[in-house]
Amino acid sequence: MGGDLKHILDFLKDAKNLDFAGCRESMVARRVTNRFARVKCNSYTAYLLYLKEHPDELDFLVDSLTINVSHFFRDSLTFEYIAQKVLPEIIQYQTRKSDTSLRIWSAGCAMGEEPYSIAILLNEYLKKEKKEFDIRIFATDIDEKILEKAKKARFSADSMANVKYSIVKKYFNSENEIFQLIPEIRNLVSFSYYDMLDNNHYAPPESIFGGFDMAFCRNILIYFDTAHQDMIFDKLYRSLSAHGYLVLGEAEIPSAKYQGHFARVNECCHIYRKR
Ligand SMILES: C[S@@+](CC[C@H](N)C(=O)[O-])C[C@H]1O[C@@H](n2cnc3c(N)ncnc32)[C@H](O)[C@@H]1O
Repeated sequence: MGGDLKHILDFLKDAKNLDFAGCRESMVARRVTNRFARVKCNSYTAYLLYLKEHPDELDFLVDSLTINVSHFFRDSLTFEYIAQKVLPEIIQYQTRKSDTSLRIWSAGCAMGEEPYSIAILLNEYLKKEKKEFDIRIFATDIDEKILEKAKKARFSADSMANVKYSIVKKYFNSENEIFQLIPEIRNLVSFSYYDMLDNNHYAPPESIFGGFDMAFCRNILIYFDTAHQDMIFDKLYRSLSAHGYLVLGEAEIPSAKYQGHFARVNECCHIYRKR
């Protein structure tokens, strides 16, 4: 990372305890310089000075670096495949072991659209099969503000574009174009802060030991360089249970070092199984 840019990231780390040093330099540089025009600066040095004199700008910089864009059932084919194939498979596998618990991790969950989407699908499937399972969905992110919003589970129409009308009617109460998710689904998901580059824990401390039947890590790996992607795949591998499923974003695949650790389950989406 170039010296001037590094000074800005060091300052951010000291002020907010957020470390973006493992992110791709081109991505970080683009997002930091995007802020220049907003605050009328034309160099890293001038922007660093501005940050020191205007601490409020730190929050805008974090927003620019994290991008929390998401929506319900993002990559609809992936969620269709999960509903039709993956969930029945996991439930049968657990049933054969006489285990009625299910543990899921959504890493980089943004405003909760991803963990809530899977909670809805699970609820639909278990009700249809008349099965009772103890479901724990752990949803984590480094952005504290977005986690607070996620807990409230209030969504704008933009987040809802991929949601079928039958699901909207059943699981949301809407008023003034805000869609409030019902408590039955909200209560299945617990949100907590967890940095995917945390050196001390391979799984979110809230989950205690990992042991996930399925982990989602989507549209976050693209920001990291290879060394840090390896670190993330190591965590995902260790925190999944035997034969657990890993769901990546459409543009993401396991890093070269971890390709042998995960088997892709079909051609159409980026869903893998732990070997
Ligand atoms: C583009 S959103 C992806 C949301 C969702 N997974 C999806 O695919 O729609 C990326 C999220 O990753 C989070 N993030 C970025 N770096 C992270 C890190 N080191 N640890 C945990 N979350 C991180 C961001 O705050 C943001 O909410």
